[in-house]
Amino acid sequence: MRLGVISALAEEQHGLIEAMRSPQRHLHGMREYTAGKLWEIDSVCVLSRIGKVAAAMTATTLVEKFGVTHIIFTGVAGSTDPGVHVGDIVVAESLVQHDMDARPLFPQFEVPLTGLSRLPTDRQVSQKLAGAARRFLETEEKGKLHRGLIGSGDQFMSDPARLKALKALLPDLLAVEMEGAAVAQVCFELGVPFGVIRTISDNANEDAAVDFMHFVKHVASRYAFNVIKNYCQA
Ligand code: ADE
Repeated sequence: MRLGVISALAEEQHGLIEAMRSPQRHLHGMREYTAGKLWEIDSVCVLSRIGKVAAAMTATTLVEKFGVTHIIFTGVAGSTDPGVHVGDIVVAESLVQHDMDARPLFPQFEVPLTGLSRLPTDRQVSQKLAGAARRFLETEEKGKLHRGLIGSGDQFMSDPARLKALKALLPDLLAVEMEGAAVAQVCFELGVPFGVIRTISDNANEDAAVDFMHFVKHVASRYAFNVIKNYCQA
């Protein structure tokens, strides 16, 4: 077992590299991969940068060059559901590329030639992530755990009209971000078990950019660090 841990931004992974035993840094394709032990688990941590292509490139490299057997993506997301609030955690059961639209050749959202619009996460990894998140949230004053559909697209969502239109097509969508469903496609195609865990930083509306910046700077790293720690120690 070798665990790949991906985040888009440094703030979403802050502290993990420092917590690594015997860290070894490798530069490849404009990214820094750090291999070492995270609480006894052989791991490789990396920042993907933002967007689906960046995430796909990173996930593929983790598998093909660094030999990871499992992948976790940890970061923040915008809420797309009235029941999901800033400070809550969403563990993905499945992910959709919400900007995928090859109509009329394929149905909207379907990843061409996979037959799938909802890419499922690994049940065991997600179960373990949910347990790790629950144990962390017990130490917080507020914050709820949700499990369900996360959408990814090459777009920072801050337009309520766009969100409303998307939600009409995907009523069970809990959150949006910009990488998870790309990692999901790579892991599906390479047969690698993976999970996605996202802390809600904003409500994907007019205030999203300001809320996002504040959350990422002040809160995100504590969530990511503790959830990954709980995951590795389970
Ligand atoms: N990540 C965090 N908030 C987001 C938003 N509103 N849109 C896309 N990705 C996000």
